[in-house]
Amino acid sequence: MLQFIDLTKRYGKADPPALQDFSLTVEEGEFVVLLGRSGAGKSTLIRCANGLIRPTSGEVRWKGESVTRAKKEELLKLRAGMGMIFQQFQLISRLDVLTNVMVGRFHHLPLWRSLTGTFPPEVVETAREALHRVGIGHLARQRADGLSGGQQQRVAIARVLVQRPKLLLGDEPVASLDPVTADAILRLLKEIHRHEKMTTILNLHDVHMARRVATRIVGIRNGRLVFDGKPEELDESRVWDIYRPDDDCCRPFLVHESQPPVSHVLLRV
Ligand SMILES: Nc1ncnc2c1ncn2[C@@H]1O[C@H](COP(=O)(O)OP(=O)(O)OP(=O)(O)O)[C@@H](O)[C@H]1O
Ligand SMILES: [Mg+2]
Repeated sequence: MLQFIDLTKRYGKADPPALQDFSLTVEEGEFVVLLGRSGAGKSTLIRCANGLIRPTSGEVRWKGESVTRAKKEELLKLRAGMGMIFQQFQLISRLDVLTNVMVGRFHHLPLWRSLTGTFPPEVVETAREALHRVGIGHLARQRADGLSGGQQQRVAIARVLVQRPKLLLGDEPVASLDPVTADAILRLLKEIHRHEKMTTILNLHDVHMARRVATRIVGIRNGRLVFDGKPEELDESRVWDIYRPDDDCCRPFLVHESQPPVSHVLLRV
Protein backbone atom coordinates (compact mmCIF):
# COMPACT_ATOMS: atom_id res chain seq x y z
CA MET A 1 0.00 0.00 0.00
CA LEU A 2 1.28 3.48 -0.92
CA GLN A 3 0.05 6.29 1.30
CA PHE A 4 0.34 10.00 0.67
CA ILE A 5 -0.56 11.52 4.01
CA ASP A 6 -1.44 15.19 4.16
CA LEU A 7 1.31 16.24 1.78
CA THR A 8 2.18 19.86 1.26
CA LYS A 9 5.09 20.88 -0.94
CA ARG A 10 6.39 24.42 -1.40
CA TYR A 11 9.42 24.84 -3.61
CA GLY A 12 10.06 28.38 -2.37
CA LYS A 13 8.76 30.10 0.73
CA ALA A 14 6.85 32.68 -1.32
CA ASP A 15 5.64 30.16 -3.95
CA PRO A 16 2.10 28.83 -3.91
CA PRO A 17 2.16 25.19 -2.81
CA ALA A 18 2.71 22.63 -5.57
CA LEU A 19 0.82 20.16 -3.35
CA GLN A 20 -1.54 21.13 -0.58
CA ASP A 21 -2.99 18.84 2.11
CA PHE A 22 -2.91 16.01 -0.37
CA SER A 23 -3.94 12.60 0.93
CA LEU A 24 -4.37 9.44 -1.11
CA THR A 25 -3.99 5.72 -0.43
CA VAL A 26 -3.16 3.48 -3.35
CA GLU A 27 -3.78 -0.23 -2.78
CA GLU A 28 -1.47 -2.91 -4.10
CA GLY A 29 -2.12 -3.80 -7.72
CA GLU A 30 -4.04 -0.64 -8.64
CA PHE A 31 -3.36 1.14 -11.92
CA VAL A 32 -3.77 4.82 -11.09
CA VAL A 33 -3.63 7.60 -13.65
CA LEU A 34 -3.07 11.15 -12.41
CA LEU A 35 -4.72 13.87 -14.47
CA GLY A 36 -4.36 17.60 -14.08
CA ARG A 37 -3.43 20.75 -15.90
CA SER A 38 0.15 21.75 -16.43
CA GLY A 39 1.55 22.82 -13.06
CA ALA A 40 -1.17 21.00 -11.09
CA GLY A 41 1.43 19.05 -9.07
CA LYS A 42 1.43 15.63 -10.79
CA SER A 43 5.20 15.30 -11.19
CA THR A 44 5.73 16.61 -7.68
CA LEU A 45 3.44 13.89 -6.34
CA ILE A 46 5.12 11.12 -8.37
CA ARG A 47 8.54 12.28 -7.17
CA CYS A 48 7.39 12.38 -3.56
CA ALA A 49 6.39 8.71 -3.95
CA ASN A 50 9.96 7.55 -4.43
CA GLY A 51 11.61 10.22 -2.34
CA LEU A 52 13.15 12.21 -5.21
CA ILE A 53 11.33 15.15 -3.65
CA ARG A 54 10.79 15.64 0.07
CA PRO A 55 7.47 17.23 0.95
CA THR A 56 7.49 20.36 3.10
CA SER A 57 5.08 18.61 5.46
CA GLY A 58 3.22 15.32 5.52
CA GLU A 59 4.54 11.87 4.78
CA VAL A 60 4.70 9.16 2.13
CA ARG A 61 4.59 5.53 3.27
CA TRP A 62 5.28 2.53 1.10
CA LYS A 63 4.24 -0.82 2.57
CA GLY A 64 4.12 0.86 5.98
CA GLU A 65 7.66 2.29 5.78
CA SER A 66 8.23 6.02 5.64
CA VAL A 67 9.78 7.16 2.37
CA THR A 68 9.82 10.75 3.61
CA ARG A 69 11.75 10.06 6.80
CA ALA A 70 14.02 7.36 5.36
CA LYS A 71 17.77 7.96 5.66
CA LYS A 72 19.89 7.66 2.52
CA GLU A 73 20.58 3.91 2.81
CA GLU A 74 16.99 3.07 3.71
CA LEU A 75 15.74 5.19 0.84
CA LEU A 76 17.98 3.36 -1.64
CA LYS A 77 16.59 0.06 -0.38
CA LEU A 78 13.01 1.28 -0.72
CA ARG A 79 13.72 2.63 -4.20
CA ALA A 80 15.10 -0.72 -5.31
CA GLY A 81 11.49 -1.93 -5.32
CA MET A 82 10.26 1.11 -7.25
CA GLY A 83 10.71 1.51 -10.99
CA MET A 84 10.35 4.81 -12.80
CA ILE A 85 9.89 5.73 -16.43
CA PHE A 86 10.10 9.26 -17.78
CA GLN A 87 8.94 11.34 -20.70
CA GLN A 88 12.51 11.63 -21.99
CA PHE A 89 13.34 7.93 -21.40
CA GLN A 90 16.59 8.70 -19.49
CA LEU A 91 18.76 6.14 -21.27
CA ILE A 92 22.54 6.35 -21.43
CA SER A 93 22.83 7.36 -25.05
CA ARG A 94 26.33 6.05 -25.83
CA LEU A 95 25.63 2.59 -24.40
CA ASP A 96 23.90 -0.21 -26.26
CA VAL A 97 20.35 -1.28 -25.48
CA LEU A 98 21.29 -4.44 -23.57
CA THR A 99 23.69 -2.58 -21.28
CA ASN A 100 21.09 0.10 -20.65
CA VAL A 101 18.69 -2.60 -19.48
CA MET A 102 21.30 -4.23 -17.24
CA VAL A 103 21.79 -0.91 -15.50
CA GLY A 104 18.37 -1.73 -13.99
CA ARG A 105 20.08 -4.41 -11.94
CA PHE A 106 22.93 -2.26 -10.60
CA HIS A 107 21.55 -2.11 -7.11
CA HIS A 108 21.78 -5.94 -6.89
CA LEU A 109 25.39 -6.04 -8.05
CA PRO A 110 28.73 -5.23 -6.45
CA LEU A 111 30.08 -1.78 -7.35
CA TRP A 112 33.03 -3.14 -9.39
CA ARG A 113 30.63 -4.80 -11.85
CA SER A 114 28.78 -1.54 -12.37
CA LEU A 115 32.04 0.31 -12.92
CA THR A 116 33.55 -2.19 -15.33
CA GLY A 117 30.34 -3.04 -17.16
CA THR A 118 30.92 -6.76 -16.49
CA PHE A 119 27.66 -8.53 -15.87
CA PRO A 120 27.02 -12.08 -14.70
CA PRO A 121 25.48 -14.36 -17.40
CA GLU A 122 22.15 -14.61 -15.55
CA VAL A 123 21.82 -10.81 -15.60
CA VAL A 124 22.54 -10.75 -19.34
CA GLU A 125 19.96 -13.49 -19.84
CA THR A 126 17.34 -11.65 -17.76
CA ALA A 127 17.97 -8.44 -19.72
CA ARG A 128 17.61 -10.28 -23.04
CA GLU A 129 14.35 -11.82 -21.86
CA ALA A 130 13.05 -8.39 -20.82
CA LEU A 131 13.92 -6.96 -24.24
CA HIS A 132 12.03 -9.80 -25.95
CA ARG A 133 9.14 -9.18 -23.63
CA VAL A 134 8.85 -5.56 -24.74
CA GLY A 135 9.26 -6.57 -28.39
CA ILE A 136 12.77 -5.32 -29.19
CA GLY A 137 15.00 -8.35 -28.60
CA HIS A 138 16.54 -7.78 -32.04
CA LEU A 139 17.86 -4.34 -31.00
CA ALA A 140 20.01 -5.56 -28.08
CA ARG A 141 23.33 -4.39 -29.54
CA GLN A 142 22.15 -1.10 -31.05
CA ARG A 143 23.21 2.16 -29.46
CA ALA A 144 20.40 3.69 -27.44
CA ASP A 145 20.61 7.06 -29.20
CA GLY A 146 19.96 5.43 -32.58
CA LEU A 147 16.47 4.32 -31.63
CA SER A 148 13.07 5.96 -32.15
CA GLY A 149 11.25 7.42 -29.14
CA GLY A 150 8.91 4.44 -28.90
CA GLN A 151 11.84 2.01 -29.01
CA GLN A 152 13.69 4.01 -26.35
CA GLN A 153 10.67 3.90 -24.06
CA ARG A 154 10.53 0.11 -24.58
CA VAL A 155 14.18 -0.06 -23.46
CA ALA A 156 13.30 2.01 -20.39
CA ILE A 157 10.42 -0.35 -19.62
CA ALA A 158 12.68 -3.40 -20.03
CA ARG A 159 15.14 -1.74 -17.64
CA VAL A 160 12.36 -1.40 -15.10
CA LEU A 161 11.26 -5.02 -15.65
CA VAL A 162 14.64 -6.48 -14.72
CA GLN A 163 14.45 -4.50 -11.52
CA ARG A 164 11.23 -6.44 -10.67
CA PRO A 165 9.64 -3.48 -8.91
CA LYS A 166 6.50 -3.71 -6.83
CA LEU A 167 5.71 -0.08 -7.68
CA LEU A 168 5.94 1.43 -11.16
CA LEU A 169 5.89 5.22 -11.47
CA GLY A 170 5.60 6.95 -14.82
CA ASP A 171 5.93 10.70 -15.28
CA GLU A 172 4.24 11.33 -18.62
CA PRO A 173 5.78 8.25 -20.21
CA VAL A 174 4.05 8.77 -23.57
CA ALA A 175 4.08 12.55 -23.83
CA SER A 176 6.93 12.61 -26.38
CA LEU A 177 5.40 9.96 -28.62
CA ASP A 178 3.00 10.12 -31.56
CA PRO A 179 -0.53 8.89 -30.74
CA VAL A 180 -0.14 5.43 -32.28
CA THR A 181 3.20 4.78 -30.55
CA ALA A 182 1.81 6.21 -27.31
CA ASP A 183 -1.10 3.81 -27.56
CA ALA A 184 1.26 0.86 -28.13
CA ILE A 185 3.38 1.80 -25.09
CA LEU A 186 0.31 2.13 -22.87
CA ARG A 187 -0.97 -1.24 -24.06
CA LEU A 188 2.41 -2.71 -23.19
CA LEU A 189 2.30 -1.15 -19.71
CA LYS A 190 -1.23 -2.45 -19.24
CA GLU A 191 -0.19 -5.95 -20.33
CA ILE A 192 2.77 -5.88 -17.92
CA HIS A 193 0.49 -4.68 -15.14
CA ARG A 194 -1.97 -7.51 -15.83
CA HIS A 195 0.86 -10.01 -15.67
CA GLU A 196 3.01 -8.66 -12.81
CA LYS A 197 0.22 -6.94 -10.85
CA MET A 198 2.66 -4.24 -9.80
CA THR A 199 1.08 -1.11 -8.36
CA THR A 200 1.26 1.44 -11.17
CA ILE A 201 0.90 5.22 -11.07
CA LEU A 202 1.19 7.24 -14.27
CA ASN A 203 0.76 10.90 -15.16
CA LEU A 204 -0.99 11.30 -18.46
CA HIS A 205 -2.27 14.29 -20.40
CA ASP A 206 -4.88 12.35 -22.34
CA VAL A 207 -8.27 11.76 -20.75
CA HIS A 208 -9.29 9.16 -23.32
CA MET A 209 -6.15 7.08 -22.77
CA ALA A 210 -6.47 7.46 -19.01
CA ARG A 211 -9.99 6.05 -19.07
CA ARG A 212 -8.80 3.07 -21.10
CA VAL A 213 -5.85 1.98 -18.98
CA ALA A 214 -6.62 3.07 -15.42
CA THR A 215 -8.42 1.13 -12.73
CA ARG A 216 -8.61 4.43 -10.82
CA ILE A 217 -8.26 8.04 -11.88
CA VAL A 218 -7.08 10.82 -9.61
CA GLY A 219 -7.57 14.44 -10.62
CA ILE A 220 -5.28 17.13 -9.23
CA ARG A 221 -5.93 20.84 -9.44
CA ASN A 222 -3.63 23.48 -7.95
CA GLY A 223 -2.02 20.84 -5.74
CA ARG A 224 -5.27 19.49 -4.34
CA LEU A 225 -7.17 16.32 -5.01
CA VAL A 226 -10.36 17.16 -6.91
CA PHE A 227 -11.36 13.76 -8.28
CA ASP A 228 -10.80 10.19 -7.16
CA GLY A 229 -12.86 7.50 -8.81
CA LYS A 230 -13.27 4.77 -11.38
CA PRO A 231 -12.69 5.66 -15.04
CA GLU A 232 -16.42 5.36 -15.79
CA GLU A 233 -17.14 7.93 -13.07
CA LEU A 234 -15.04 10.56 -14.83
CA ASP A 235 -17.83 12.26 -16.73
CA GLU A 236 -17.62 15.53 -18.65
CA SER A 237 -18.35 17.75 -15.67
CA ARG A 238 -15.60 16.09 -13.62
CA VAL A 239 -13.16 16.44 -16.49
CA TRP A 240 -14.09 20.11 -16.49
CA ASP A 241 -13.50 20.35 -12.72
CA ILE A 242 -9.97 19.07 -13.26
CA TYR A 243 -9.05 21.16 -16.29
CA ARG A 244 -11.07 24.37 -16.18
CA PRO A 245 -9.03 27.57 -16.18
CA ASP A 246 -8.99 29.37 -12.81
CA ASP A 247 -11.08 32.26 -14.12
CA ASP A 248 -13.55 30.01 -16.02
CA CYS A 249 -12.95 32.24 -19.04
CA CYS A 250 -13.33 29.65 -21.79
CA ARG A 251 -16.23 27.63 -20.49
CA PRO A 252 -18.84 29.04 -22.88
CA PHE A 253 -16.72 27.94 -25.82
CA LEU A 254 -15.90 24.48 -24.49
CA VAL A 255 -19.41 23.53 -23.43
CA HIS A 256 -21.29 25.10 -26.34
CA GLU A 257 -23.67 22.54 -27.83
CA SER A 258 -22.00 22.57 -31.20
CA GLN A 259 -18.67 21.75 -29.58
CA PRO A 260 -17.45 18.19 -28.97
CA PRO A 261 -17.34 17.04 -25.33
CA VAL A 262 -14.58 18.53 -23.20
CA SER A 263 -12.59 15.31 -23.16
CA HIS A 264 -12.51 15.35 -26.98
CA VAL A 265 -11.37 18.94 -26.99
CA LEU A 266 -8.67 18.05 -24.49
CA LEU A 267 -7.59 15.14 -26.64
CA ARG A 268 -6.69 17.59 -29.36
CA VAL A 269 -4.80 20.22 -27.38
N1 LIG B 1 12.05 22.47 -9.04
C1 LIG B 1 11.06 23.38 -8.91
N2 LIG B 1 11.32 24.61 -8.39
C2 LIG B 1 10.33 25.52 -8.24
N3 LIG B 1 9.05 25.30 -8.55
C3 LIG B 1 8.74 24.10 -9.07
C4 LIG B 1 9.73 23.08 -9.28
N4 LIG B 1 9.11 21.99 -9.81
C5 LIG B 1 7.81 22.31 -9.93
N5 LIG B 1 7.59 23.58 -9.49
C6 LIG B 1 6.29 24.25 -9.46
O1 LIG B 1 5.37 23.45 -8.74
C7 LIG B 1 4.10 23.42 -9.38
C8 LIG B 1 3.74 21.98 -9.74
O2 LIG B 1 4.65 21.52 -10.71
P1 LIG B 1 4.63 20.03 -11.28
O3 LIG B 1 5.84 19.91 -12.15
O4 LIG B 1 4.47 19.08 -10.18
O5 LIG B 1 3.29 20.07 -12.15
P2 LIG B 1 2.77 19.03 -13.23
O6 LIG B 1 1.34 18.78 -12.89
O7 LIG B 1 3.67 17.87 -13.31
O8 LIG B 1 2.82 19.90 -14.57
P3 LIG B 1 3.12 19.41 -16.08
O9 LIG B 1 1.87 18.74 -16.56
O10 LIG B 1 3.39 20.69 -16.81
O11 LIG B 1 4.30 18.49 -16.05
C9 LIG B 1 4.21 24.35 -10.57
O12 LIG B 1 3.73 25.61 -10.20
C10 LIG B 1 5.69 24.41 -10.85
O13 LIG B 1 6.05 25.63 -11.42
MG1 LIG C 1 4.89 17.13 -14.78
